[in-house]
Amino acid sequence: MSGESAPAFKTIPHHAPVADAERAALLANPDFGRVFTDHMVTIRYNTDAGWHDATVEARRPITMDPAAAVLHYAQEIFEGMKAYSLEGGGAVLFRPDANARRFANSAERLAMPALPEDMFIQSVSQLVSIDRAWIPTTPGGSLYLRPFMIAGEAFLGVKPASDYLYMVIASPVGSYFKSGPKPISVWVSRSYTRAAPGGTGAAKCGGNYAASLPAQAEAMRQGCDQVVFLDAIERRWVEELGGMNVFFVFDDGSLVTPPLSGTILPGITRDSIITLARASGLDVREEPYSIEQWRADAESGRLREAFACGTAAVIAPIGEVKDGAGSFSMAQGRENDSVAQSLRRSLTDLQRGAAADAYGWVHRVF
Ligand code: PLP
Ligand code: COI
Repeated sequence: MSGESAPAFKTIPHHAPVADAERAALLANPDFGRVFTDHMVTIRYNTDAGWHDATVEARRPITMDPAAAVLHYAQEIFEGMKAYSLEGGGAVLFRPDANARRFANSAERLAMPALPEDMFIQSVSQLVSIDRAWIPTTPGGSLYLRPFMIAGEAFLGVKPASDYLYMVIASPVGSYFKSGPKPISVWVSRSYTRAAPGGTGAAKCGGNYAASLPAQAEAMRQGCDQVVFLDAIERRWVEELGGMNVFFVFDDGSLVTPPLSGTILPGITRDSIITLARASGLDVREEPYSIEQWRADAESGRLREAFACGTAAVIAPIGEVKDGAGSFSMAQGRENDSVAQSLRRSLTDLQRGAAADAYGWVHRVF
């Protein structure tokens, strides 16, 4: 149904939005993903009517039948993106078309209907617009947007559902990691893998994250911020972190990131970094990199930096790599002259309208 025209949004503003003083207090220290705005978007789908009933309304709990397919067979997908406030007023989204496309690809992988790209972008823009008072203006702050879709059909047979609910909620956020801009520590999981060829690794579906939780819990027990997953076949190729892609920076200035082999999430931050790094004259290779090589290159000094990247985390240098087979540390470049820092600055300058948008990535909402 991706060629259909978008239904008009009906807007029912919240009758009692959070008061200014309370909102200001929440925005002063929002953490990540714990504070939510006043409104939400809902759009319904069924195989007969297609997409319909697009609504912006007060955020509230939803009801569903206990037999709803999502509750049993996890037919669910989501996106993660941010709205940024501009210094002179107004707000922008960063590459929302890329999120819309990935959402459609995830839908296809989970046998769900594709939400037309314009409807996706419009839904997110509508929420950002009505909840504009919730967009942080503090340095590093942004409004995290979570579009998602769940299967609603009440039926316990295993098949693609016939009806779906698409929603968008929003959450003002600061830094994803409590450590702020300090290097993060990662735990290499030898017991669990995240995705196998032919599986759902390239889709952003809740099931991938549910299955990653014991590995993430193991990482946290080891005192680490994130888990590093290795490939499912040889158990040696670095794939990605629980919620971020990964880059390596070598002493000749070149960068390596694992290729999009179908088992990792095609990160929009990853893609943006590749473009920005190449534009600044750096050589970026998308090629497999093993955990043994990571250790050897860290120890020899050939590897200068490693960093994680994603919408939530932006770019976070990796300091310590913990592994049952032996731990090692990264000798990071100095805070302000590392490649990670410089790429982070290029990316965030673009996202905040402080740099010229040479790629047409910045989408003005208001
Ligand atoms: N890998 C995983 C597993 C993720 O959850 C994310 C975050 O969305 C990423 C990578 C980075 O993707 P993006 O840069 O599009 O946020
Ligand atoms: C994102 O970066 O948007 C994600 O979905 C990752 C998650 C760890 C919050």
